[in-house]
Amino acid sequence: MQDFEGRVAVITGGASGLGLAMARRFAREGMRIVLGDVQRDALDGAVASFEEAGVPVLGVACDVSRQPDVDALRDAAVARFGAVHVLCNNAGVAPGGLVWENTLEDWQWCLGVNVYGVIHGLRSFVPFLLQQAEPAHIVNTASVAGLLSPPGMGIYCVSKHAVVTMTECLHHDLAAKTDKVRASVLCPAYVPTGIADSERNRPDALSNPAREKSADEVAREEALRHAVHSGRITAEQVADMVFDAIRDERFYVITHPKIKGAIETRMQDILLERSPTDTSRPQPRTQT
Ligand SMILES: NC(=O)c1ccc[n+]([C@@H]2O[C@H](COP(=O)([O-])OP(=O)(O)OC[C@H]3O[C@@H](n4cnc5c(N)ncnc54)[C@H](O)[C@@H]3O)[C@@H](O)[C@H]2O)c1
Repeated sequence: MQDFEGRVAVITGGASGLGLAMARRFAREGMRIVLGDVQRDALDGAVASFEEAGVPVLGVACDVSRQPDVDALRDAAVARFGAVHVLCNNAGVAPGGLVWENTLEDWQWCLGVNVYGVIHGLRSFVPFLLQQAEPAHIVNTASVAGLLSPPGMGIYCVSKHAVVTMTECLHHDLAAKTDKVRASVLCPAYVPTGIADSERNRPDALSNPAREKSADEVAREEALRHAVHSGRITAEQVADMVFDAIRDERFYVITHPKIKGAIETRMQDILLERSPTDTSRPQPRTQT
């Protein structure tokens, strides 16, 4: 995609963090903005900030884990602006824990938002984009957790690995049908946003029974919060990288290049059929 002025960007999870930063970056290019988000107060605040800046904007309350909500997001975007050119399937949540200790509700919540949210986005929007037959780009937000398998975050890794492979398959499927619609997969490491507090948007129907957390769980949550808030690359920098990838038609957006050593180690583990290396720990310089 080369022309952005007046085009339309739809961003799920657009009321906070990476999604809001992408929306602001696209608005700087003169794009019209549609934000879909489940958190009403944050959504209203984000919409008001665009309106104050004179940016054409629409906010749609939307739970991406529900197909009808995502269909309604598409319909609202088309009704208001007549077209869609950039779709960012970005809404996400990040429960942690040991894989056998996570509850079914943990799995349903995380996979519902992180995986089904993207599935719903593709099912709603891709047929429309193909029919529209104008240059368009889909950005699915995965994570480096979609390229690695660190301990203590199995659910999140499962969800993000799914988004990586779904987007790789999407890339091939689109290529077989059109030269107008492209895709990218966004794989950030830690970036300071609200992600460590994603329980704030967990639906009551998928809440866990109240209980005292173990010292291990508290330590893991603290470590995640510390890692997220210590991230040196900002949401605005990530948004710049996303915009560049759309303009340059680049598929993989790996925002923290230093992580590539860990990705290579995992790939080597697979190719050499050795046990998985814990890449979250410092690695010796030479692998045997
Ligand atoms: N921040 C990081 O370190 C990091 C790293 C890698 C990947 N990511 C991914 O980036 C994406 C954006 O997260 P963020 O870091 O900006 O966090 P964030 O919490 O600041 O933003 C996430 C947004 O998604 C919304 N959301 C949550 N559940 C939703 C639902 N069911 N339907 C619609 N919207 C919903 C939230 O209300 C929020 O506005 C997520 O997919 C996350 O997994 C974040």
